[in-house]
Amino acid sequence: MKHTKSLNFNIKTQFILLFFLTTFVKSLFSQSNITIVIESSDYAIALQTDNSKRLWHTYFGQRLTLPNEYISISKQLRYYERNEDYYNHAYTPSGTWNIAEPALRVMHADKNPSTELEYLSHVTTKLKDNIVQTVISMIDPLYKTEVQLFYKVYQKENVFEQWTVIKNNERGNIELKKYASANLYFRNKDFYLTQYHGTWATEMQPETHRLTAGIKILDSKLGARANLYAPPTFMLSFDEVATEDKGKVMLANLAWSGNYRFDFEKDRYDNLRLIAGANPHAAEYQLAPKESFETPHLIYAYSENGKGEASRNIHRWARKYRIFDGEGDRLTLLNNWEATFFDFDENKIVNLFDGAKKLGVDLFLLDDGWFANKYPRNDDNAGLGDWQENKKKLPNGLGYLVKNATEKGIKFGIWIEPEMVNPKSELYENHLDWIIRQPDRKEYYYRNQLVLDLTNPKVQDHVFGVFDNILTKNTDIAYVKWDCNSIIYNAYSEYLAQQNLPQSHLYMEYVKGLYKVFERVRSKYPIIPIMLCSGGGGRVDYGALQYFGEFWISDNTAPVDRVFMHWDYSHFFPTIAMSAHVTNWDKTASIKYRTDVASMGKLGFDIEVDKLNKDELKYCQEAVKNYNSFSDTLWKGDQYRLQSPYENSFASFQYVDEKKNKSIMFSYLVNNRFEIIYSVEPVQLKGLDFSKKYKVKELNLFPNTTTPIDETVVYSGDYLMKVGLNPKISRERKSVVLEVSAVK
Ligand code: DGJ
Repeated sequence: MKHTKSLNFNIKTQFILLFFLTTFVKSLFSQSNITIVIESSDYAIALQTDNSKRLWHTYFGQRLTLPNEYISISKQLRYYERNEDYYNHAYTPSGTWNIAEPALRVMHADKNPSTELEYLSHVTTKLKDNIVQTVISMIDPLYKTEVQLFYKVYQKENVFEQWTVIKNNERGNIELKKYASANLYFRNKDFYLTQYHGTWATEMQPETHRLTAGIKILDSKLGARANLYAPPTFMLSFDEVATEDKGKVMLANLAWSGNYRFDFEKDRYDNLRLIAGANPHAAEYQLAPKESFETPHLIYAYSENGKGEASRNIHRWARKYRIFDGEGDRLTLLNNWEATFFDFDENKIVNLFDGAKKLGVDLFLLDDGWFANKYPRNDDNAGLGDWQENKKKLPNGLGYLVKNATEKGIKFGIWIEPEMVNPKSELYENHLDWIIRQPDRKEYYYRNQLVLDLTNPKVQDHVFGVFDNILTKNTDIAYVKWDCNSIIYNAYSEYLAQQNLPQSHLYMEYVKGLYKVFERVRSKYPIIPIMLCSGGGGRVDYGALQYFGEFWISDNTAPVDRVFMHWDYSHFFPTIAMSAHVTNWDKTASIKYRTDVASMGKLGFDIEVDKLNKDELKYCQEAVKNYNSFSDTLWKGDQYRLQSPYENSFASFQYVDEKKNKSIMFSYLVNNRFEIIYSVEPVQLKGLDFSKKYKVKELNLFPNTTTPIDETVVYSGDYLMKVGLNPKISRERKSVVLEVSAVK
């Protein structure tokens, strides 16, 4: 009896609740609510206002066929039972109704920390063919703080770029305590985050895990070269871990070379709130009346057809819209870093030019160690900051080297690290106030150096000046490698103190100052290729890549490690931007294996060419020629990750040109265990034309070896993609490069 009674009661209660709930849900959204739809070719984000003008995420997923059906999505949602169940705000404020992680925290002029945001207006504009931008304006009804949410959509590529502008409309200063670029909401069964971590020489190691209730935070607080331990990059799989060809997946990167923070919060519905932006840690930002603050931009590609498609889309986007000269060509080179380190002089360098010539590469790149006199740069303890040629090493200056290289028919490039300083330098002695350091505390160094204070316009002039002086004096310099090796300790800016600005502006202003310098460099030098280097991959993001055509993945050039790193970086960045050099880092690997691996990136060498034996030299010369013959496909074509090094004894990658006439397949043995040391089965190719016929040719054969591949066979694209091709990998053939060309 008792039981039935309570059951009756429960049913009754439920009915009553349901009645109220339906009425409440109805009253929350009515006909006059505004629906905003942000669409790419295949996907859409829908937002809708409620009756109190709050803006909610109602949808993220495939585009709906009937546009007017976005309006009714909110009718299917019943979150709004109680205030504490509101999680899907378009840009969650704090201090009022919200109890979840906020996107925005503001301390108003009267020291009140509460903010509410009401929808004001929105406008959608077609900026260019393929690019549509929606700007949503919101306002705090009490303090009139204005927030604009920007959504720029690259239609064909299904790439979204989101950022926020916050404006102070009060009479006094306000303080931004959190200022996300984007706040997204996903309703899925499960979420799997792939994050990346590492340190010097072990960059970009992936780790995938299921997100559980609570908040997972990825962040960086390093200030400069902020990606050293963890890049501002993640992959988010929805429902289950995406594979190359299946699954819902987002590939994201914060276009920002400074501190960042990503919050992944699973709410009580098991939905996911994503809040992404610059790291507000120790970085509260004061806005004077009428001033606006623009956040960094979050870039993401979304696909429901696996990570392969998402990668190809972000690659296309990056080449076309983001990376400096993304659709141009690149220079192959010989670098002296690992060949000489700091130990060289003019003659040694000039002799190395012959090596570049012999290899057939385009350029010679002179690395670290060429400058400073009072404290010569003979190791990494001294000289950084003093950008005059070292008279002992280079008595005739850089000009002599440039001239000599030009006479030998190769171009000349130079290494710089203008943002940094060794305490043992004239720059340190003369401009202590230009350096980020605590005036009355012990200094802490990273690689024996400190970071210059780019919040200071004079320091910006200096850094620009380093680049400009070298290039003005040596107009024929054809390439620059821009390095950056220290993180920020003892964060304190003399300049901000002098200007009476808060020290907490340092992290934001450092990066803004850096970008101002890059802007100046690019407006005066719009053509010269510059490599983005940061002791390896300590600064790889789509903010910096606007100014740089390529980046240095890692100082670790051991080819097996590079196969793995290439695999992971290739999810987010196109091959044209990934510099890869043949070095002696792992001498146990053959020159062929090392070169075949580097040939999958932007090829360079960092070896003493004179030390190659006859066959090795012949092989390298041939490899450079081959590289030149397929670089267009590699740099501008579509990439397919065929077989992962994490799950197989050998990895395979493939690149296909736009017309599907030419393809290059790279395969690398990555595991030496006995039972799996040869390729037993074929690897299915991708991206070819089913109806075309193809021939296969092995490239980069070592002298006096022959290919086991039958190059006379004509295959259909259908066969190559359904059955596949066995690259015949074995201990004796650790790396195989195959060219697949359409025949008539
Ligand atoms: C770090 C870079 O990653 C290396 O390639 C080299 O340029 C050194 N710096 C020079 O100091």
